[in-house]
Amino acid sequence: MTEEPGADQPDDLMERVVNLCKRRGFIFPSAEIYGGFRSTYDYGPLGALLLRNVKDAWWRAMVQRRDDVVGLDAAILSAPKIWEASGHLSNFTDPLVDCRSCHERWRADKIEGTCPNCGSTDLTEARAFNLMFKTFAGPVEEDATVAYLRPETAQGMFVNFVNVLQTTRKKPPFGIAQVGKSFRNEITPQNFVFRTREFEQMEMEFFVPPADAPKWFEYWLDERFRWYLDLGIPADKLRLRHHDADELSHYSAATADVEFLFPWGWDELEGIANRTDFDLKAHSAASGEKLEYFDQASGERYVPYVIEPAAGATRTMMAFLLAAYDEDEVGGEKRTVLHLDPRLAPYQVAVLPLSKNETLVPLSRQVLGQLQPICMCDFDVTQSIGKRYRRQDEVGTPFCVTVDFESLEDGAVTVRERDTTEQVRVPIETLAAEIGGRLRR
Ligand code: GAP
Repeated sequence: MTEEPGADQPDDLMERVVNLCKRRGFIFPSAEIYGGFRSTYDYGPLGALLLRNVKDAWWRAMVQRRDDVVGLDAAILSAPKIWEASGHLSNFTDPLVDCRSCHERWRADKIEGTCPNCGSTDLTEARAFNLMFKTFAGPVEEDATVAYLRPETAQGMFVNFVNVLQTTRKKPPFGIAQVGKSFRNEITPQNFVFRTREFEQMEMEFFVPPADAPKWFEYWLDERFRWYLDLGIPADKLRLRHHDADELSHYSAATADVEFLFPWGWDELEGIANRTDFDLKAHSAASGEKLEYFDQASGERYVPYVIEPAAGATRTMMAFLLAAYDEDEVGGEKRTVLHLDPRLAPYQVAVLPLSKNETLVPLSRQVLGQLQPICMCDFDVTQSIGKRYRRQDEVGTPFCVTVDFESLEDGAVTVRERDTTEQVRVPIETLAAEIGGRLRR
């Protein structure tokens, strides 16, 4: 138990994590009873908790702990005019090629001229394929009723810029943050929930005076990098990569990605971009509304630049699972353990009566009742205590609280810590305070 958690992760880590996700109820293939549905996934009881904790951790860091960022929850179903102005209708495309041999379709920029399915190099010319999901609002399917599922949450923040400015009295530098679903008709969804057609994003648009944009770009690179470290991604599995000029999105003057060392290599968790005044100016020109800031003190009127940290919640959740996964030995017995930060773990505490004995269960339920107001708890009475510890280790529960026969005498319980497996006796009276203190939020 002295090694760095996850130091010697297995070669088939991805397979093991995917199996664990299915077996323990983190992530299920969607519509599984019908044979699954095109790389879509459902988040099970534990996955729903973990994903919520990832999003809550982001919201605490980006909104709750700051006085210069406010929240927003904009519509997913959105007007074509938004995507016309933002450039997504014309630019949000991937290069699509067909293999003439096996007829599979691929993203040309991901396969280097060879079909990964059959090895043929006989591919069609690349053509631009738009990633937006189109639908119709109302019963009639015609041009006038076209709507799009948003491919990013960002535009909701831009089109509400003046609404937020007027209702919050914020002034640059300030940000608008949003967490929610986005949809992209990806040509090749892959690597479990890394790239899917339906996914969740955590984005923030930070509006600044244009001259200050480079400074704030650097600031957000640092802040965002630190967020992943603070929540337990090891430093050697995290890096920042600056985009070359030919990689930049149509709206960006500078972009850097926070990358994680996935089992298949370095890949993106989050993009931090200097979007300049591209979006506000584009929406201003298309709508005729002035999207600018008037600084009463200086008498200056300007269109702010935007620094955007844009992260994927579902993708980040997967990175946290991969980084936390470990197999070790406790007392000569092998176990699987997720070294998840307590703030992310689906359950923070499991309350375990030593036996189903009718005198232990009521006291255990009383203990559960004390802990539930402060954190998410599991309650498990089945099988041996050793097996129950293993089950909690496997889903990352940082603390197990065992109620035994002595508890009836001394009013104390055993608290077992996941990573060290150390056990201490704690009076029930002070248990909630003790656990609360250990769960630093
Ligand atoms: N508003 C800017 C924007 O959307 P992006 O780099 O395209 O930038 C931001 O997306 C983040 O959203 C990515 O870093 C990734 O974590 C996540 N993301 C993007 N496409 C995804 C997909 N198909 N599946 C899962 N996550 C995705």
